[in-house]
Amino acid sequence: MTRLLTLKLALLLTFIGILHANTNAQEINKMDWFSDAKLGIFIHWGIYSLGNTSESWAFHNKRVSHTDYMAQLDSFTASNYKPIYWAEIIRKSGAKYSVITSKHHDGIALWDTKQNNLSTTHKSPAKRDLLTPFVNALRNNDIKVGIYYSLIDWTHPDYPGFLKDSSKYKIEDNPAKWQNFIKFCHGQIEELSAEFNPDLFWFDGDWEHSAEEWQAPKIKANILSHNPNAIINGRLQGFGDYDTPEQNFPVTRPNLKYWELCMTMNDSWGYQKNDNNYKTPYEIITIFADAISMGGNLLLDITPMQDGSIPKTQIETLEEIGNWTNKHQEAIFGTLGGMPQGHFYGPSTISKDSTSLYLFIPAKISGDIVVKGLDNSIKSIVVVGNNTQLNHRIVGKISWSHVPSLVYIDIPENVQDKYMSVIKLELDKPLKLYRGKGGFN
Ligand code: GLC
Repeated sequence: MTRLLTLKLALLLTFIGILHANTNAQEINKMDWFSDAKLGIFIHWGIYSLGNTSESWAFHNKRVSHTDYMAQLDSFTASNYKPIYWAEIIRKSGAKYSVITSKHHDGIALWDTKQNNLSTTHKSPAKRDLLTPFVNALRNNDIKVGIYYSLIDWTHPDYPGFLKDSSKYKIEDNPAKWQNFIKFCHGQIEELSAEFNPDLFWFDGDWEHSAEEWQAPKIKANILSHNPNAIINGRLQGFGDYDTPEQNFPVTRPNLKYWELCMTMNDSWGYQKNDNNYKTPYEIITIFADAISMGGNLLLDITPMQDGSIPKTQIETLEEIGNWTNKHQEAIFGTLGGMPQGHFYGPSTISKDSTSLYLFIPAKISGDIVVKGLDNSIKSIVVVGNNTQLNHRIVGKISWSHVPSLVYIDIPENVQDKYMSVIKLELDKPLKLYRGKGGFN
């Protein structure tokens, strides 16, 4: 009897073990494309794209009345919307995924939602579902599909929040009303799953309510029942797969397996006529290199106008980024975050087998670069994108010490990239770093 019990227990433990291993394997798997992708393009498009107000926040913060804000619906035409062109310029930028707003905090759906009639299909001269053709174009271009969905819905009559200093009601005073809203919100998410089967759900606005109030576990379970490989961003009150720092640049490497910096090209998430404070291609490229060096992705925002055309500066910037990512693709896509700070004064990445080390060098430099604490011998050094072989000098090797030497590498100016040069160090064996203090031990 005791032996039988022991056997049963052993079987049960093995079973739990297998279950656990499977879950981990599946999780690792589903995040693979995301960590290889590195660059995504974010798109904020809605009635705010007329260019006069910020997205949703304009009425919430009482810059305009809710009525005036919503009146922009009448001028939202999408008359020059070219989803195939959008997908093409995104592909050419090197981005491997794109995330588009299906509904911002203003509550206006860009698809033909059946949960209410507040959509571009029913309430604007655009008169159609704008998501389907873009989602199709992305898939035809082999770009992963991300759908942004705002949990907050300041226009919905059953949603409590409204203006910055007033709410429609308190959940504890009217739980039934909140349940109506949750039914609506879960219903929309369900539609998005069913109609678009997104590779990635990008939630926003979770901060207004708790996981319990949103019924976040249920949202996650429903999404995964449609697509077990769907990725969820970190704005579902603890039920997401990765973190989304916004506009703020980490200085030290975040202690996170997966993360994504989302960033505007100028200072606005949606198109604003008067915002010309654009980041230059050089700035975006260096920010991008920094993010991937620290094991993250960059989700870079573009802001189409109400008719669907994309501002010229944004197109030009995407093209510049595309030339650079294309030239340096082996150092970017499918690599791992690079060396911790201290070994090299700049970003770096490593190949998955750890035998190629890529160093990113901002243009233009005239002196040698130096690598410290590299406990490997170097088989070759080349400039990525033009294959120029580079020489290096081993400096300060002490015969009796185990502390690695310094490596000085000269990069002639004529082989440097106008934004960031990348050089590849082919190593004798997987990267090994010395992190000591230079003493005897
Ligand atoms: C913020 C804002 C929003 C924007 C989003 C993008 O949370 O509420 O306007 O869409 O960030 O990350």
